Amino acid sequence: MFLPATFALCTLFGLGIAVPEPRSLDPVRTVFQFPPDTFFENLAVRSNGEILTSLLNEPQLFVIDPDPETGAPQAVLVHEFTDSLGFAGIAEYEPDIFAVISGRFNIPTGDVGPGSWNVWSVDMNGVSVQGNVLSGSPNVSLIANVASANFLNGITLLSQSEGTFLLSDINAGVVYRLDTQGSYEVVINRTLTNSVPTPPVPLTGVDGLHVHHDGDLKTLYFVNAGQGFLASVAINDDGTPAGDIEIVARPLEPVDTYDDFTFDCDGNIFLVTGSGNGVERISING
Ligand SMILES: *[C@@H]1O[C@H](CO)[C@@H](O)[C@H](O)[C@H]1NC(C)=O
Ligand SMILES: *[C@@H]1O[C@H](CO)[C@@H](O)[C@H](O)[C@H]1NC(C)=O
Repeated sequence: MFLPATFALCTLFGLGIAVPEPRSLDPVRTVFQFPPDTFFENLAVRSNGEILTSLLNEPQLFVIDPDPETGAPQAVLVHEFTDSLGFAGIAEYEPDIFAVISGRFNIPTGDVGPGSWNVWSVDMNGVSVQGNVLSGSPNVSLIANVASANFLNGITLLSQSEGTFLLSDINAGVVYRLDTQGSYEVVINRTLTNSVPTPPVPLTGVDGLHVHHDGDLKTLYFVNAGQGFLASVAINDDGTPAGDIEIVARPLEPVDTYDDFTFDCDGNIFLVTGSGNGVERISING
């Protein structure tokens, strides 16, 4: 069965298979830096170690090899999307095939671009970074225009076998389910996902989100960036809530803004704090 790269690596470690050591042993290093005024929004690590990354203020998707054979890591263009202003969430849904959100959030004016939000399939199979170019062209196709959405931000795989995702609409404050055939509907619209005024930026609610799978049990973890917490809720196979939403953790400092996050092999959460310039680790019990 296919599992996203992070979970596959956990399995590799569990089996005691040697995984290459990173070349740099510094615990924290700058891999690659864009010029000022570039807004990194999301990333996904490919099974070959390359990092697929989205910018919210450029309609370009990049991939970075963090440990190239020669020279320094470079951002290599994967695809340019003519109808968007930038990108948001990325989720792997088949081996080396990623769903990527694009849309027209205009950062200077604050117009979130209702109706402009698309989800694309980007098939990276057989394509890798060679110097400052890609070895071939990835297959890019549209999964859906989610016409009713105000501002799609996060995406997570709900079921690989059913080809379903959950997506956050950070501005409308709801969670959508989308399938690879392009059908979508709102599945969660609760006080704790809803958006609140966060001047000077637009209304902000449910943001980063991940489905945590434990056997057949599915739990959705999500950040509400405007209300300022990480929450969890048991969900059904169709993404609707199977219980009450519970608040797991709140930011340690007022300056911290919870945003996107990921899990390690043990279920601990690593979460970026936006203007807090940090990463918080939250144990599975909060
Ligand atoms: C590209 O993706 C589309 C949509 O999934 C598919 O129909 C097509 O066969 C793919 N093309 C190649 C060359 O893989
Ligand atoms: C969420 O629920 C509220 C209250 O029922 C409703 O007014 C609103 O339209 C819903 N939002 C979406 C995007 O469905």
